[in-house]
Amino acid sequence: MMPASSTALPPAPTEFPDGLAKCPYLIVRDPESVRDVLHRPADFSPANALVAVTPLEGPALRVLQRVGFALPPVLASNDTGTHGGIRKVVAGYFTPATVAAMEPRIRELARQAAGNAADQLARTSHTDLVQTVAAFPPAVVMLELLGLPVRDLADLKRWGLDSMELFWGWPDRDRQLELARSAAEFYVWLRQLVAESVTAPGRNLFKSLAGHGLSGTEMCSLGYFLLIAGQETTTQLISTTLFRLLEGASPVDWKEAASESGASSVVRLVLATESSVPTWRRVAAHDTSLGGSRIPAGTEILLELSGNRITGGGGPGNPSPQGQPGRGSSTGLIFGSGIHRCLGAKLAELEASVVVQEAAVALQGIQLQDHEPEWIRHLSFQAPRTVSVMNPPG
Ligand code: HEM
Repeated sequence: MMPASSTALPPAPTEFPDGLAKCPYLIVRDPESVRDVLHRPADFSPANALVAVTPLEGPALRVLQRVGFALPPVLASNDTGTHGGIRKVVAGYFTPATVAAMEPRIRELARQAAGNAADQLARTSHTDLVQTVAAFPPAVVMLELLGLPVRDLADLKRWGLDSMELFWGWPDRDRQLELARSAAEFYVWLRQLVAESVTAPGRNLFKSLAGHGLSGTEMCSLGYFLLIAGQETTTQLISTTLFRLLEGASPVDWKEAASESGASSVVRLVLATESSVPTWRRVAAHDTSLGGSRIPAGTEILLELSGNRITGGGGPGNPSPQGQPGRGSSTGLIFGSGIHRCLGAKLAELEASVVVQEAAVALQGIQLQDHEPEWIRHLSFQAPRTVSVMNPPG
């Protein structure tokens, strides 16, 4: 049962995609209430963070069961006392010093990617910046930071997108089956990677986690989340930023984005207005209250972190997916808050700024070719699927 609506807890919107006409979540938009929820993990558990938004049906479940697919709570969805210790191990791979030291490597990868885009433009007069610029640098950086082999990148990108749709999208029965096959393939690959990594020479994430006492299944669960969250979200942030810049919808223009300050300010703006992770979930662990309203145990809560089109937070009238960015959040909630706050926040911002800057430097004068691309619009992820550009005519 939903609590009575109040200013802190606006009523559920009606713009949910078909099939979700009745929003199953209590939507919390007021930044103070969002912060309150995030800072009360004993009352509002993250246990539902990785639960499929659309319940999986028999055929898809059987595909997953066949490979022993399981996502026991380890990090993002862990509401037990083991979270802190595991988080500390993972955080060791993303310390501020490690991230800062990675900047030259990020710039090198960003320049290569922008160079590839320039070559493709020279050859064919057009390119998709999601593929040439945004897709790969975050994946390479993440694997290198974690001490893992940089391989099968195209598969990793496909698995990440498919798993996002399987767990945060609205796939029908047939689509679920396709996506489950992809998730199962990813899981089998991951199990192999975990097995190899724990005996590999040198330092790597899975070896550290095994040393901390995690089982193979727990490491696969953590890896499944991290290998998606640690790169596809950044790719999506870069994609939206490039699109808004080239669309001319941003106060910073493409020329200004070629400077460090221009690039970082446009990335911050996109984070505040239409981040790649605009919402995140919690569930009431027991009967509790929020902003004076009673919240029954088991209430599923959707927290709005940034403007988005799913909860209607995409601005007045919830414009079409191709509409303008949503209202902003300047509240520092973009990467969550409290004990589960994103461990990759600094890295993601740095990567996005550097990749956008190097693209703007290398690709002067390009124009947007497709002004109405298809968008990823899952419950907690959003970005244009393509950013198709061309050389100026003449
Ligand atoms: C634009 C890119 C990104 C955005 C918008 C984003 C956003 C988020 C959000 C909203 C959460 C949930 C926080 C909470 O529950 O309070 C989260 C958790 C997390 N993120 Fe990110 N993230 C991004 C990139 C990354 C990267 C690059 C990494 C690692 C390389 C990463 C690693 C994590 C981890 C490990 C958690 C779970 C932390 C925990 O439960 O203790 N994220 N992220």
